[in-house]
Amino acid sequence: MKEVNINFPISQIQYTKPRRKKLKERLNFGIMYQHPRIYDFTIWLNDPSGLMPKTLAKSVEGDSVLDLGCGTASLQTFLPKGVQYIGIDLNEDFLVFADKKNRGVFYKRDVTGDLSDLKADTVVLADILHHVTPNHQKLIENAKNCAQKKIIISACYEKEEGPFKQISEFIGRRIIDNDGLNGQREGAGWLKLDELLQFLVNNGATNFQKVLSHIHCEINI
Ligand SMILES: C[S@@+](CC[C@H](N)C(=O)[O-])C[C@H]1O[C@@H](n2cnc3c(N)ncnc32)[C@H](O)[C@@H]1O
Repeated sequence: MKEVNINFPISQIQYTKPRRKKLKERLNFGIMYQHPRIYDFTIWLNDPSGLMPKTLAKSVEGDSVLDLGCGTASLQTFLPKGVQYIGIDLNEDFLVFADKKNRGVFYKRDVTGDLSDLKADTVVLADILHHVTPNHQKLIENAKNCAQKKIIISACYEKEEGPFKQISEFIGRRIIDNDGLNGQREGAGWLKLDELLQFLVNNGATNFQKVLSHIHCEINI
């Protein structure tokens, strides 16, 4: 991936369509993350009515939203008109795809890096915490520094032990949900439900609810 100046939105950067990846490269990251339309289709299969982004959108407070790990920006569609939307991600293909919807500003940046120049009323962490483990505390700190009113979180957790746990983890982490960005994740694993809840409570989260396979909650600033 070519380096991009983080201070310029993706719309102002000359984007050259990526060459077709070689098979070896394709095997190194999940099929979902190789094309935004495949990602959206997979999300639709899991949540055809858009319940998760709709629930997040209802919790948004204020006039601006900063979506850390925005992916294809599915949340943006459900925000009231007039809410300023900033999406941050490292997947350039996703950012360009999201930018074409033309209702936000998108930057290619690492959500665990220095985000001290970004501020918004609501910061969203949707399905991103498990991607950056073991740096998930750093991501929450970043969100706290950027948020002026609240942080809203949607997070998945490790499923219970079972006979197919190892094989489903292998398929899940290595093949489907491997974003190609966070190599450390493979060995790091993710949190069990009680560990996730403890982590969120320790960070001041409240208003817990279960939405499909995810825990939703918020941190008021
Ligand atoms: C499961 S997707 C969630 C996308 C979106 N929030 C949603 O709910 O559909 C995780 C996203 O996080 C992005 N991501 C992972 N690690 C990142 C990092 N360190 N910095 C920026 N984006 C990252 C991936 O590229 C991917 O688009």
